[in-house]
Amino acid sequence: MEKKGVVILGSTGSIGRQALEVIENLSDRFRVVAIAAGTNVDLLAAQAARLRPARVVIAEKRLYGDLVRRLEGYPGMEVLSGEEAVADSAQYPGADIILNAIVGIKGLVPTLRALCAGKTVALANKETLVAGGELVMKEARKSAARIIPVDSEHSAIFQCLQGQDISSVKTIHITSSGGALRDCPLRDLASVTPEDALRHPTWNMGAKVTIDSATLMNKSLELIEARWLFDISPGDIKIWIHPQSIIHSMVEFKDGALLAQLGMPDMRLPIQYALTFPERLPGIARSLDPATMGPLTFTPPDELRYPALKIGYYACRAGGTMPAVMNAANEEAVKLFLAREIGFLEIVNLVEKVMEGHNTAVVESADSILSADSWARRKVREYLGHR
Ligand SMILES: NC(=O)c1ccc[n+]([C@@H]2O[C@H](COP(=O)([O-])OP(=O)(O)OC[C@H]3O[C@@H](n4cnc5c(N)ncnc54)[C@H](OP(=O)(O)O)[C@@H]3O)[C@@H](O)[C@H]2O)c1
Repeated sequence: MEKKGVVILGSTGSIGRQALEVIENLSDRFRVVAIAAGTNVDLLAAQAARLRPARVVIAEKRLYGDLVRRLEGYPGMEVLSGEEAVADSAQYPGADIILNAIVGIKGLVPTLRALCAGKTVALANKETLVAGGELVMKEARKSAARIIPVDSEHSAIFQCLQGQDISSVKTIHITSSGGALRDCPLRDLASVTPEDALRHPTWNMGAKVTIDSATLMNKSLELIEARWLFDISPGDIKIWIHPQSIIHSMVEFKDGALLAQLGMPDMRLPIQYALTFPERLPGIARSLDPATMGPLTFTPPDELRYPALKIGYYACRAGGTMPAVMNAANEEAVKLFLAREIGFLEIVNLVEKVMEGHNTAVVESADSILSADSWARRKVREYLGHR
């Protein structure tokens, strides 16, 4: 069997590293043809030396010389830098699958390029669908390219929907652990530190998505992601706090059947499924023993604790550029929180303020998304200056 060529965008991140573990375990099926990262030149060079991809890209241009020096002993390996080289790698000729594990809006253009080239996209970068869902799905339909979700919730929904028609779905139930601050008294939320908010109870993930989990903005992003991936209206999507992170999401059908996908909180399973779909192969993800599962609980999210959720439903219904604005304002606010420039509760406050000042506009192209994105980032800085 011919090996499938995979490009990993964001290979140095949490998803990227786990994707490489999955691929190295299935080395008779896959070969890594290109890897790209943002700034982590040490790890990127080490990955390149181990995997020998044909192309290695660092987005940060000033690190190009450093990367070239480290890879001098590997002639024939193409070494590039810059955002354009990252996006170009999404349409790499020798690739069958593009795994987009970039964090943030920087993932949008590479996804569009991959789809335009007819590549299968294994999509972890949820911000792609939040900011550009309509455009991205249009591009996928045009080229008949496939998007397979990597996000555990969307992978669960995707798995439950195999062999089913979306018209037979009544409700999609997305689960959430509730994040690191689920049990923190409300009065203490204003003073939590980045370290507190980064202590996720069940998943080990990158910093941005871990903070998004603590605010529940992650579920707002996932709501919009699901809306586009599965072509379902936001009113038919429900969110639940499920602290055990065992049921990754559920699909309720019109006849009353409720299908769920269960598993340990281990991203290597949805990553592998996205790569091997529609096949299932033995993998390295931890398997779930029903005997040790314990009770599973589900409660609706508390609106006082998680105001981000209301904002997500609003952005999803408003459509146009509003979700891109929500996403960008959130990315900026999370950076500011991690840099200790704002408090935890200010993240969602800032996002809401920026959205209030935005008149949503029709998305005509990637440019309209990117300009809404830049506008929202500027607004966050402006509001911050006026505090
Ligand atoms: N981690 C999880 O378990 C999980 C679960 C579900 C969904 N997701 C989603 O998956 C995406 C990645 O999350 P993560 O947790 O893996 O994030 P992460 O650990 O922060 O990694 C992000 C990756 O993106 C790279 N990157 C940043 N800017 C780039 C650019 N311009 N070009 C190329 N690469 C760039 C980073 O490179 P450097 O580090 O070298 O700068 C890094 O490899 C996010 O959208 C997240 O919401 C993650």
